[in-house]
Order: sequence, then C-alpha cells, then structure tokens
Amino acid sequence: MRFKIGIVGAGNVGGPTGQRIAERNYADIVLLDMPQAEGLAKGKALDIEESGPVLGYETKLTGGADHSLLKDCDLVVVTAGSPRKPGMSRDDLVQTNQGVMNEWGGAIKQHAPNAVVIVVTNPLDAMAQAMFHATGFPRERVVGMAGVLDSARFRTFIAQELNVSVQDVTAFVLGGHGDQMVPLSRYSTVAGIPLPELLPRDKIAGLEQRTAQGGAEIVNLLKAGSAFYAPSASVLTMVDSILLDQKRILPCSVYLTGEYGQQDVFLGVPVKLGEGGVEQIIQIELSSQEEQSLAKSADAVRELLQVMRGVPSATPS
Ligand code: LAC
Repeated sequence: MRFKIGIVGAGNVGGPTGQRIAERNYADIVLLDMPQAEGLAKGKALDIEESGPVLGYETKLTGGADHSLLKDCDLVVVTAGSPRKPGMSRDDLVQTNQGVMNEWGGAIKQHAPNAVVIVVTNPLDAMAQAMFHATGFPRERVVGMAGVLDSARFRTFIAQELNVSVQDVTAFVLGGHGDQMVPLSRYSTVAGIPLPELLPRDKIAGLEQRTAQGGAEIVNLLKAGSAFYAPSASVLTMVDSILLDQKRILPCSVYLTGEYGQQDVFLGVPVKLGEGGVEQIIQIELSSQEEQSLAKSADAVRELLQVMRGVPSATPS
C-alpha cells in the first residue's frame, strides 16, 4: 500500500518537496495552495507526475485548493506562508503566517486526523506551536523542520573549511531556528573526532555564526525568496524517517514539557523520528554556557508567541 502525503503550499519549498518525495516512489501526493494559487498547485503536481515516465516512478500527484484533498493523509508537510524578503526578519512574518497555520491546521484536523504534521513555515518554532494548537494533535505528531537544515549548513561549512567529505561530518544544532540557534561544536564531529580537536575556537565561532545566519545568506543572494533546495532535502529526510520507520535521531523542533529545562515551547532538540512521529526526545548534558544559550533561544521563540493571538503564552524560563 502506498502512503498518502499532503503538501500545503505549492511555492518555492512545496514544489521541490513534492518532487523529492515523488522520486522516492512510496507515496501519492496532494499538493495544495490557496484558491488564488490553485493553478500553481495543479500545474506543479502535473509537471512532477509527468517526470515519472522519465525517471521511473509511479507517484500520482493531485493539485488543488480544496481542503478535502487532505483526506486520510498519513503525513502533511506545511510550507504555506509568506516567505522572507531581504531585510525582513523571520519574526516579521509571525502574525500573517499564524493565520495560515490556523486555517490549514483546522483543515488537517478535520480531514487527516491521524496525520503526522511537519511544519516548515517561518518563523519556524512559533509556527510549529501555532500548528500544534490549531490541530490539537498530541505533541508526537507535530514537528518542525529546522535542525536538519541548520545542521546540514553547519556540516557544509565544516567540510569546506577542512576540505573533507561532508559524509564524514556530523553536526549538532540546538535551539530555535533563528539568529539565536545553538550550534554544538563539541557534539559535532569529523569521522568521530570532535570538531574542537580539529579547528581553533575562533574558526569554529565563524562557522557557527555563518550557520546561524545561513537562511539570511541565501535570501540576500537570491534577492527574491528564500532557500528551497536544502530545506526540501531536509524535509525528505524527516519524511523518510517517519514513513519508513527509520528511527533516525535528528534535530527537530518539538514541544517541550520540561526537557532541557524548557516548558510549553517548541524548540530544536535531538529526537527519534519513526512511524509514530516524535518517538523520543534525547536529552544530553549541556554546559552551563550552552544551557544559557538555549534559554536565550527559547526566550526568542517566546517573544514571538507573545505576538501571536490565541496561543497560550509560554511560561517564561
Ligand atoms: C532558511 C529559511 C527558509 O533557513 O528559514 O533558509
């Protein structure tokens, strides 16, 4: 039996996400957008399906604007929302995109009540929290995509700096998807060797800084729109881990209820992703400085929650 995956938002991230998932050939896909962009959703869905004969996949794609297309989806990826424009912070987007989460969250709740939801819309952690409230789903089934992307960027920069294969580089990034994210160098390794043994502190600091601003770096280069290749690749990694029950340990934004000293807030931490969605939150010992950085990152997310309407404000740390 094939899975059914919904992708909400047929824009720059939704399209490539559909393409990448289609190429995996284990799920059929519905690609949705708002009524004004129904043609975009239908056109991209058809275009991706027409690649099947060439690439050898049978994936069926249906595009549209009708919420009921989400019926019985196993998993829904939510990319809809206003993208960041140059000079605009992720935070500026908060209220507009909260409205989008409320609308689609209600639709997912009605038509795909058993789905796992992966949120990609920015500001990421706050939008995952908005989706969590809009669906009323258990926390295991609402998860934000950020850490996989942020750590992919960190891995890229580490590999470039050391001139080694990215395949041997692992990187750990904690916290919110924003300027306050917390790259954890001592848990980042090259073939198992901790990064601090390979690079001086100031070099690592430079790579961490570039990682934290990785999204903005692409926005500034593209001028129109934000990143989509690495974000869609990161979504695919999470979709695979959930639907194929791979139980990978990946940094994802999840609702914390005391883990890492944080309560009632979505924040990026290492989790196990399997068929149940978030199956486990992995806790690691943080140094007091790392803990402080994480708390600062959580406070940045909480500031956004305060801007949002109808989402209970998170308890301050
Ligand atoms: C990024 C934006 C999309 O990190 O958040 O690329």
